[in-house]
Amino acid sequence: METQVRRLSYSQIDETMIEEAGRIIRKGGLVAFPTETVYGLGGDALNPESSKKIYAAKGRPSDNPLIVHIADKRDLYRIVREVPEKAKKLMEAFWPGPLTMIFYKNELVPQATTGGLDTVAVRMPSDRIAAAFIRAAGGFVAAPSANVSGRPSTTTAAHVEEDLSGRIEMILDGGQAVIGLESTIVDMSVEPPVILRPGAVTEEMMEAVIGPLEVDKAIIAPDSGVKPKAPGMKYRHYAPRADLAVVEGSTEAVIAAINQLAEEAEAEGKRVGIIATDETKDRYPKGLVLSLGARKHEEEIAQHLFEVLRDFDETDVDCIYSEAFDEASIGPAIMNRLLKAAGHKVIQV
Ligand code: TXA
Ligand code: MG
Repeated sequence: METQVRRLSYSQIDETMIEEAGRIIRKGGLVAFPTETVYGLGGDALNPESSKKIYAAKGRPSDNPLIVHIADKRDLYRIVREVPEKAKKLMEAFWPGPLTMIFYKNELVPQATTGGLDTVAVRMPSDRIAAAFIRAAGGFVAAPSANVSGRPSTTTAAHVEEDLSGRIEMILDGGQAVIGLESTIVDMSVEPPVILRPGAVTEEMMEAVIGPLEVDKAIIAPDSGVKPKAPGMKYRHYAPRADLAVVEGSTEAVIAAINQLAEEAEAEGKRVGIIATDETKDRYPKGLVLSLGARKHEEEIAQHLFEVLRDFDETDVDCIYSEAFDEASIGPAIMNRLLKAAGHKVIQV
């Protein structure tokens, strides 16, 4: 199949293109679309055949449930059994936005979409192209991140093309995703609610609205052998072709350690990659240095992480050393993705 790419502009969202994309979904086809977090690979959430196609296009195990995307808060009530009071408060505070909540589903949502679970993950993106597309598609769009299983999530339409061209009907190109990391996931089907995946809506932000939350132990201590509650978190995640290690410590100690590691690796004939920041990138004389952006604007770091990991896969580096990012706010979400990519290989200095 030939994949059509449609470039859209936020200043004037082309209704004809949106209608065309919506029609593809209503007929059971697949369309990748931009959201504020990462690109989504969309299909009709209420059509089991569409969900099966999503799994096939991604090469993803079909017991890994999909997030259902809506464009109007009231649509939530059409697909879940109950909306707890705390969820209503989080909806008021953070929807539309990068927060996914898990509820008990009703019979409208097929098991094929939820990987056989009786709960469903729901998100209302703030991206305006996403919202227009979801409405045109009938209101309920199932969408995992638009990458081939085992690769980083996509933050540009070009990355989506790289992974999915020829496997889906259309890609809506809305430029670079603003946040660059997947949404926060919080399970509202239990009390207290549990954070299953950290994202741009942080634990502190949610606690300010609904009080104490728990964090899935599989996120905090990945080697604890605890089975993660989000099925997707149990699969081997994206790992770059090269060996990646994260170096943690004070800035000066990290720079010194990475320079030494780079020198040793080069002496062994290896090619070295370094993940740095605008503030530090000129302090690494050896290796291929890619900056994630300014550390003082940590949203830049989040926005570029997946892109830089993809860029390194295009090079011939054998090993990559990365600075760590553990600052407040979106820091935990950045570290969560970086540590997964590194297979939790951390060098403390
Ligand atoms: O930002 C995002 O959330 C992006 C954009 C496209 O919205 N989507 C995304 O979807 O990251 P995906 O499929 O790559 O990740 C969804 C995660 C998976 O780890 C999945 O296991 C988990 O959510 N999940 C989905 N439904 C669930 C459920 N009912 N219970 C527990 N975990 C669930
Ligand atoms: Mg994903």
